Amino acid sequence: MRLDGKVAIITGSASGISGEVMGFGGATANLFANEGAKVVVTDVNEIMGEKTARQLNDKGHDSIFVKLDVSDESDWVNVIDVTVKEFGKLDILVNNAGIGGPSVIEDTDVRLWDRQFDVMAKGTFLGTKHSIPELRRTKKGSIVNVSSVFGMVGSLGDSVYSAAKGAIRTFTKAAAVQYAKDGIRVNSVHPGWGLTPMTADSYKDKTVWGPKLATVPMGRLARPEEIGYGILFLASDEASFITGAELVIDGGRIAW
Ligand code: NAI
Repeated sequence: MRLDGKVAIITGSASGISGEVMGFGGATANLFANEGAKVVVTDVNEIMGEKTARQLNDKGHDSIFVKLDVSDESDWVNVIDVTVKEFGKLDILVNNAGIGGPSVIEDTDVRLWDRQFDVMAKGTFLGTKHSIPELRRTKKGSIVNVSSVFGMVGSLGDSVYSAAKGAIRTFTKAAAVQYAKDGIRVNSVHPGWGLTPMTADSYKDKTVWGPKLATVPMGRLARPEEIGYGILFLASDEASFITGAELVIDGGRIAW
């Protein structure tokens, strides 16, 4: 029970339904619950989010779903309020929600830039801002931000995504430095390509994935729980002296 008694909010965690392809957030919700955490599943997808929380409760865990658009500040005020009313505190925040979408620079509309920054960069900022007062109370709070390897290196077609994920990477360090004195650790996880609802459809197309996988030394996509285990470690007290750090989980993709 690596998270025994902890209360965790995980954004973008609706896709944690057993028997279906899980997202990183959904797989993390399942791992956290198995390790003794009370999990607040949050997402804009209410149907899947409710189902994920219900399944966790059916397995004997303690979970609720709260609808949260991470780019909406009033939604954040509500989710923190509901979490504390329901479970009495907040120990862990995982900022996982994200959206993809190709963006070759010359062809990119400002609206796409704003949308991706709203969900990923602003969403991570708002979640951090509103969880800090509760995390401070626990004296050993933990925030894990899901960035990407493309927050560290460039890609051919995802320039805005890279910029937003890069913002998460350095915002993580700013938050780590500012709140270390309050016992709050803030770290980022940098996944390579994984098989999730975001990629599952396109994965069937070998012309798309063949060349991409050729750049991954381990030659395959990540399974969602392989990202979840990294998040679990950083969220847990096992990582008690780790803050402002980056954990790359990419099968070696950016090692060369
Ligand atoms: P996913 O599509 O299963 O998960 C993303 C979740 O975020 C979805 O449930 C979606 O409904 C939710 N979401 C979207 N906009 C939202 C908003 N405004 N507010 C709240 N929730 C919102 O995809 P996946 O792959 O599990 O992605 C999880 C995170 O991992 C994302 O941040 C993604 O950018 C990142 N990532 C994914 C990689 C991959 O290959 N799948 C690689 C590297 C990073």
